Amino acid sequence: MHSPDGQLQQSGPGSDGTPVTGIPQPGVSPIELRVLAVMAAARYHGVQLDRDDLRFPGGQPPEPAALVDWLRNAGLWARGVRMRWRSLIGLQSSAPVVLLLRDGGAALVVRTDPARDRVWTRDPAAENDSEPVPVDAAAMEAVWDGETILLRADRGNAYDNEPFSLVWLARLVWTDRKLMREIFLASLMMTVLSIVMMLLVMGVVGGVVTYRSYNTLALLSLLLGIAMLFEGFFGYIRRQLTIVLGRRVEARVNLEMFKRILGLPIDFYEINQAGAIMYRLGHIGKVRDFLTGRVLTTLLDVVTLLLLLPVLYVLNPILASLSLVAAILMVLIIVAFIRPIRRVYLRYADAEIAKSTVLVESVRGIRTVKSLGLEPQRKEAWDSTTAATGSWKLELQDLINWPQTLVHPLEYFMRNGVLLVGVYLAINGAMDAGGMLAFMLLSGRLSGPIAGIARMMEEIEDIRNAVSMAASVMNEKPEDARPGIGLRPRFAGAISFSKVSFSYPRAKSRALDNISFEIPAGSSVGLVGRSGSGKSTITRLLQGINRDYEGYVKLDRDDLRSINLTHLRRSFGVVLQENFLFRGSIKDNLIAGRPGLTMTDVVRAARLAGAEEFIERMPQGYETFIEEGSPNVSGGQRQRLAIARALIHDPRLLILDEATSALDPESEALVNANIARMAHGRTMVVVSHRLSSLTEMDQIIVLDQGSVMDVGPHRELVDRCPVYRQLWLQQTRYMQSTRAAAPAPVLAQGH
Ligand SMILES: Nc1ncnc2c1ncn2[C@@H]1O[C@H](COP(=O)(O)OP(=O)(O)OP(=O)(O)O)[C@@H](O)[C@H]1O
Ligand SMILES: [Mg+2]
Repeated sequence: MHSPDGQLQQSGPGSDGTPVTGIPQPGVSPIELRVLAVMAAARYHGVQLDRDDLRFPGGQPPEPAALVDWLRNAGLWARGVRMRWRSLIGLQSSAPVVLLLRDGGAALVVRTDPARDRVWTRDPAAENDSEPVPVDAAAMEAVWDGETILLRADRGNAYDNEPFSLVWLARLVWTDRKLMREIFLASLMMTVLSIVMMLLVMGVVGGVVTYRSYNTLALLSLLLGIAMLFEGFFGYIRRQLTIVLGRRVEARVNLEMFKRILGLPIDFYEINQAGAIMYRLGHIGKVRDFLTGRVLTTLLDVVTLLLLLPVLYVLNPILASLSLVAAILMVLIIVAFIRPIRRVYLRYADAEIAKSTVLVESVRGIRTVKSLGLEPQRKEAWDSTTAATGSWKLELQDLINWPQTLVHPLEYFMRNGVLLVGVYLAINGAMDAGGMLAFMLLSGRLSGPIAGIARMMEEIEDIRNAVSMAASVMNEKPEDARPGIGLRPRFAGAISFSKVSFSYPRAKSRALDNISFEIPAGSSVGLVGRSGSGKSTITRLLQGINRDYEGYVKLDRDDLRSINLTHLRRSFGVVLQENFLFRGSIKDNLIAGRPGLTMTDVVRAARLAGAEEFIERMPQGYETFIEEGSPNVSGGQRQRLAIARALIHDPRLLILDEATSALDPESEALVNANIARMAHGRTMVVVSHRLSSLTEMDQIIVLDQGSVMDVGPHRELVDRCPVYRQLWLQQTRYMQSTRAAAPAPVLAQGH
């Protein structure tokens, strides 16, 4: 977009459409240029960005913030900055930099040349090998006012991919070094102030008492008053900073926690109960509070101690030693109890997990509980787990009570015994009144920090346990859905399984046994077979839920395992037997936050799924609010909404796993009648127990105990496949004998 002599012209609508690299690109809008420039820059770092991840209101060029988020979510380090020509040209890095132009377009700076005062830019819209062209300051400043996006491969967030542990959290707290320094300074000021004040008091008290000087007393009061104000002030600052630190750490931890939860494979959630997962994750808060609360204050207390102890020793070594010995004894007592307490604590924590599992299960399964009248059994389970937690808690608290009791006399001694000794020393003239007063005032500050340290040691076991609890969820191996990993082909929709075998972890027999079949792009396939024959397993492999199978699964020509997981799943539409609707309007549920979808898509998808008629009968139509657990839509309606949700982004591959089995005959007939239309232009895999809904499929794959028995259209299979014929006869016989289960219309044809 600039001619070789360094002339730049405006790009975008309104101008003659020559973008920043000098090559006319009338077809490329500024919006597109920004997207392409960022994608090209990310590609330089080996990250292939997915356009679907970029969130911005359409119609306008994406804002820097949106672009930066896009890059960051893909695991890159990115920052939007305002830059001058001087700093741009001074950039040393060889990585490309994205300049956001005034007209909404973008340029990609690939090289800088400070000597000649030029930068070299490349056209983001052109192919990779397009020649960079030089641009000078005047030309650049004509179209660019400094908005720049810097990016690089992320090494900064070291805590990002590391296992969750105390060290990980500590490092996360440590990112706020500056804040910590301020907190530390405030504490230091508080301590120094109080020591200085006490020493002043010591000097002045002698004068007051000896010379009965009211003036000096007034001065003393004034000094103490000022000290109080300052201490109050620094105390306020310190607490305020601690709160800020806590909140920042909390935000970061929450972010990371949710990211990891979402990243875990479905297997994990199948093996672990929700109650246990929640309970375990709940411990993160405890650890976080420990770090930003107890640990921080204890560290600060240590500083206080280090400053205080020498002063106390100077004031009076005997008293100081007595206090110190008492303090050390306190710590020893507490440490002695740590192990026994921990043992009991672990039992208590197990009991808590069992208890919360009962609670979560009962709440989630409340329909089943009620309809089967299982309340007494649930209550019994609850009572027994509650009793178990209760008794372990009692034992735990009993045990904790001991160190507290044993420590008490020592604490008392530090507070009052030392006073007695001090008085004794004063009587004997070994110490003056002022010195004693100062000592008392200062040593009062000794017990706080020491108790704090002791309490921290006491808690640390608890926290170690909490860390391992949380880690058991946080450190599970996530699915490899990283944006930068894997291919992102545009699917035509052909599927091939060749010699695929698979067993679930911990299962004895194979769920799939040496399976091979081909599904041509754009065709429809039914999967049938007895319960447990492996139908759902096939759909799970296709979605990349289980990836450690033997053999090959190919989509078009690519190995399934080499395809980016997120991309793969976004290219699919999946409807299961049970589908979850989120709280929100029907429209929101159908769009589900995916970018680029409009009301037109919503209506089209609803029509295709046979949901339009009931949605329009609802008083608020598409704006009808669906509550948690979707009580205000029927099972069949929910199912049709789920189908619409899967269809809305026009997936290449649609998987329906028992999607219609919960439907009433009428809605089922409605969906089935639409199946041909749904299948149009995409590959469709339908798992169904009702063979009647599969008769029109291009092919039907018959499975039995994890093996493919036969593949072919309905008519052929009825004739030649015994397993299929048996299933078919069972169902049609049933249909004939019971009028109630009205057969779908297709069934009647020819049979
Ligand atoms: N998450 C899992 N963990 C362990 N084994 C599983 C899991 N899911 C399924 N299986 C086992 O794998 C085999 C195949 O199950 P699959 O769910 O594929 O059957 P299906 O044909 O879909 O059955 P249905 O018609 O009942 O849905 C079964 O023996 C089942 O017990
Ligand atoms: Mg199944």
